[in-house]
Amino acid sequence: MSNTPHTLPPLPYAENALDPVISARTIGIHYGKHHKTYVDNLNKLITDTELAGLTLQEIISKTASQANKAGIFNNAAQIWNHTFYWNSLSQEGGGEPPLILKQKIENSFGDLDSCKKELATAAMTQFGSGWAWLVMNGDKLEVTKTANAESPLSTGIKPLLVIDVWEHAYYLDYENRRVDYVNAVIEKLINWGFAEDNLG
Ligand code: FE2
Repeated sequence: MSNTPHTLPPLPYAENALDPVISARTIGIHYGKHHKTYVDNLNKLITDTELAGLTLQEIISKTASQANKAGIFNNAAQIWNHTFYWNSLSQEGGGEPPLILKQKIENSFGDLDSCKKELATAAMTQFGSGWAWLVMNGDKLEVTKTANAESPLSTGIKPLLVIDVWEHAYYLDYENRRVDYVNAVIEKLINWGFAEDNLG
């Protein structure tokens, strides 16, 4: 049976690249410990099972909504979500989206500010741990939120970018002020170019 281990994808920037919005200390722990632990756990859980050798996305879709596979799903989806999150941020982020994305945002939300407000509200109102997403549903852009490790992938909706709102994403830098983390990320780090690339 194939046992190719899953690996921690490289960060797309240095650990201090997002400082001061997200400190190198937060990234170091979030990426180097949390994200890595999901990879290590998944590899342990699938060794010598029928899921060994499958891609991450195959594992996520095969284990979604299966209570007896929740541990595997949670670790696999958290690997995927975190890799997507790192790419949703950039030290050159914030500002105006590229033209094609901007037009889609205006068609779906009216204007960029309304889109950003909806994203911030989703990030703020996700009770407990989870994720706030900009997604494409058919031809329309929408904002959605998911709890814990859940992702819109399980529902066939295409994710464009994501904000991690687990406390481990912001607590060292912002303590309990999730609103300050969310607003700073949206204004200064959000990688609209990545979202446009994901329109496909
Ligand atoms: Fe996280």
